[in-house]
Amino acid sequence: MSSARTASKPCAVNSCTAAFDRRRGSSTRRSSRLPTIVLLGSIMAESAKIAGTVFVATQRSAPHECMGVCMRYENKVVLVTGGASGIGRAVLDGMVREGARVMFTDISNEVGQSLEAELRSDGHDVRFGRADATDPDDATRIVADVVNEWGRLDVAINNVGGPGRGDKSGGPLEALDPAAWRATFALSSESTFYGMRAQIAQMLAQGGGVIGNTASMAGVRPTLTASVAYSAAKASVIQLTRYAALMYADRGIRINAVAPGMTLTPAVEAHLTPEEQQAFVAGIQPMGRMLKPSEIADSFLWLCSDEASGVTGITVNVDAGLSAA
Ligand SMILES: NC(=O)c1ccc[n+]([C@@H]2O[C@H](COP(=O)([O-])OP(=O)(O)OC[C@H]3O[C@@H](n4cnc5c(N)ncnc54)[C@H](O)[C@@H]3O)[C@@H](O)[C@H]2O)c1
Repeated sequence: MSSARTASKPCAVNSCTAAFDRRRGSSTRRSSRLPTIVLLGSIMAESAKIAGTVFVATQRSAPHECMGVCMRYENKVVLVTGGASGIGRAVLDGMVREGARVMFTDISNEVGQSLEAELRSDGHDVRFGRADATDPDDATRIVADVVNEWGRLDVAINNVGGPGRGDKSGGPLEALDPAAWRATFALSSESTFYGMRAQIAQMLAQGGGVIGNTASMAGVRPTLTASVAYSAAKASVIQLTRYAALMYADRGIRINAVAPGMTLTPAVEAHLTPEEQQAFVAGIQPMGRMLKPSEIADSFLWLCSDEASGVTGITVNVDAGLSAA
């Protein structure tokens, strides 16, 4: 299966070179082998080093391949909410593939338990916890469970979200039932707050950690195809991310978000026929296709790894070009 530990993971060039550095020794040793280039100043010198790094790496291994498996999460303890399906499942797969010990939660007990059994039989250190992300007590309990199991919490992905019961995409604001607005805010905004509240308390106690939140392009740039409540709730996830990043930047906690465009997950497949999906993306995603859950997961895997150690408070738009149009 895709998450098998032995699978080779294609990755960004700087991941490859980081793996290369670990195996070959320091970057000083590597730079001594750079080709001679006439340099006009220090900026060009840096560019040449980067070019040289790629050159050296591609000579010794296949381009864009780690030498073996990328293991950015080896010995890391990770929590993923809503991990039994779609984007959360892709993040879970990526984390275990790269060596993490993962607690994933979901409201669906049956799917969660069967996925836990599948991943554990593949040799992964994975636990499933049934938890409702809209319940603050569940959010606190799950963090306690992670700490009981592995002693700390390094990375948390708050992924649960979506339109709440009765909230229809593109429906008129003046007709929106306040109960539907509240349901969407509970699922897409409050869930993120409850998760972060519990996770940050633990991360402060242990001296640091990393949080990733699933936002949405609907929260970055409204389109009338999404509901007003969902768009506002996801915008709040982005602002919650930025505010908390600012608040904890000097206490070792990094907090970022990923804003997916339309992504082919079970949630989308359940609501749109293939023809409707194609019509939708043709209208707003310049690449003319749906995103894959793994494409969203890959941004989380970068943002929450040490490769992004200087990054906090940002939202990465993984949107097939939507925000450029
Ligand atoms: N699919 C897209 O096009 C898209 C685009 C932008 C943003 N998003 C966001 O990505 C996230 C994941 O969406 P997806 O498309 O992968 O959905 P999905 O339905 O495929 O997966 C969501 C998972 O969350 C679980 N879940 C639902 N309510 C829960 C709750 N209260 N507590 C715990 N678990 C719960 C579900 O059982 C399911 O396993 C959501 O925040 C969504 O808003 C999705």
